[in-house]
Amino acid sequence: MVGSISSTSINRRLARALARLAPAGVELVEIPIKDLPFYSPDHDADFPQVARDFKQAIADVDGVIIVTPEYSRSIPGVLKNALDWSARPYGQASFDHKPTAVIGTSGGPISTAAAQQHLKAILSHYNAPTLGQPEGYIQSTPGLFGVDGAVSNEGTAAFLTSYLAAFTALIARYVDTADAAAGDAAAEDADSDAA
Ligand SMILES: Cc1cc2nc3c(=O)[nH]c(=O)nc-3n(C[C@H](O)[C@H](O)[C@H](O)COP(=O)(O)O)c2cc1C
Repeated sequence: MVGSISSTSINRRLARALARLAPAGVELVEIPIKDLPFYSPDHDADFPQVARDFKQAIADVDGVIIVTPEYSRSIPGVLKNALDWSARPYGQASFDHKPTAVIGTSGGPISTAAAQQHLKAILSHYNAPTLGQPEGYIQSTPGLFGVDGAVSNEGTAAFLTSYLAAFTALIARYVDTADAAAGDAAAEDADSDAA
């Protein structure tokens, strides 16, 4: 999920770089946010199709990487709007138990760190298991990321590869744990049936 709707977004380039560097067996797909209208509780009784599709897209993946710019030391409004849609209708929050990682790039020296702290606070409220390390603060320089996601700096490419490995491991641990819990519940059901 890219928190920018800019046609020249450097964060979309970063997202493409992550997609290119994904480990074998891992596919990254974009969950678009640009066509979501402003969220209002007036929609809760009957979500528009675009919002249903957005929530379904989150449900369909094993984990979400949010690639965010920093606007005014926080996340852009378009991303906050998308997250508000994800949290509703009440009781159907899309990020509950969804492994999530945060990363972002800007030209500034703190490289979206302030925005990412705000984003992690929101994800914590959503009960999303979130990657703690490594932290993805990427200072952008001209030409670092090509439009196609090519990465010109070897150190940056190596970092992104390790970041993806860490997130994939988090997802695997989480899925294994969830599977084990589901197995335990099924075994308990079988025991009670037998009794
Ligand atoms: C409204 C606005 C606020 C911004 N605030 C910050 C900021 O707080 N920190 C920062 O590092 N960059 C800030 N920037 C610069 C963005 O990092 C830069 O525009 C970046 O290219 C945005 O990401 P994108 O290209 O993926 O859309 C701001 C840009 C805009 C338009």
